[in-house]
Amino acid sequence: MFHDLTIREIRNETPDAVAISFDVPDDLAETFTFQPGQYLTLRTVIDGQDVRRSYSIASVQSSALTVGVKQVEDGVFSTFAQDLKAGATLSVMPPEGRFVCKDETNIVLIAAGSGITPMVAIASDTLARGGSVTLVYGNRQTDSIMFRGALDALKDQYLNRFTLIHILSREMQDVALLNGRVTGDKVILLANAGAIELGQTDGVFLCGPGEMIEDVTQSLTDHGTDPTLIHSERYYQDGETQRAPSAAALAAAAEGVSVTVVLDGTTRMFQVESEDNTVLDAAARQGLELPFSCKGGMCCTCRCKVARGTAEMATNYSLENWELEAGFTLACQTRPTSDNLVLDFDAA
Ligand code: FES
Repeated sequence: MFHDLTIREIRNETPDAVAISFDVPDDLAETFTFQPGQYLTLRTVIDGQDVRRSYSIASVQSSALTVGVKQVEDGVFSTFAQDLKAGATLSVMPPEGRFVCKDETNIVLIAAGSGITPMVAIASDTLARGGSVTLVYGNRQTDSIMFRGALDALKDQYLNRFTLIHILSREMQDVALLNGRVTGDKVILLANAGAIELGQTDGVFLCGPGEMIEDVTQSLTDHGTDPTLIHSERYYQDGETQRAPSAAALAAAAEGVSVTVVLDGTTRMFQVESEDNTVLDAAARQGLELPFSCKGGMCCTCRCKVARGTAEMATNYSLENWELEAGFTLACQTRPTSDNLVLDFDAA
């Protein structure tokens, strides 16, 4: 599933963020074809640990396959990535993700910090298709703006169809509305001021911290935006809150639960014990590798279906309601609440 790709270029985007561009050999070109908004999972071994992280693709149209990696506090991979050099190789999973912009032609993008990464690919693709893009982008100050060069180049190329609005929280701008953080209230004020055409849009895409996404989504729906037009992706944050296990999950783990997984047509069994936080952890402890990437309930790489038994999730930021109703779960968040749990990774 992973392929070794050579790093073509590393570019410092800000003092604590790099853009990593990969060479994709001809025989993998189709495998690494992406839809704007998708991400790559990068994998390496650090201090003997298999470390994987997902980073959104920030390529401008047909340029090199590029992701943006911002260093986060105590972030194992993001710290490692800051010292990578051109010519090194990394294991890379082909593009995945459902936060995609395909046919929309009049879009509003709202991003904060490294949430800009998928927006670069979405904006450049939409503009190249002849669409219109308004991007509201929040940062602390000018020198923390990632992909500033790429955004300015798009602005120059598509002057009449690309509106770029920078919101800065620690640097004063002349227009008061552009100071502070990106909030739902601010987005509505910008719309009322005519800077954003919410009434005309066929897609609103949000990427950033969960708090910003929830606040802006609420304001947009209160303001009358059709919720089906709003798409969001939280960026990875270590330490996202997980619900504590329920009494049923604690009791099941204390007894020891037998779990069967169906993956690529084969069936494997292992036990979940009280030392295991999730099914994914239990499988890894017993030497069975299940698909995963973010381990944070955000990417869906570990999506599977509960075919027998019952389970709960510690958190879920990616499965939609119809998937929950159909019995899908995220293995990285799944805790059995009954014995003889069967998880089918092959279920569509
Ligand atoms: S590994 Fe990303 S949601 Fe489970």
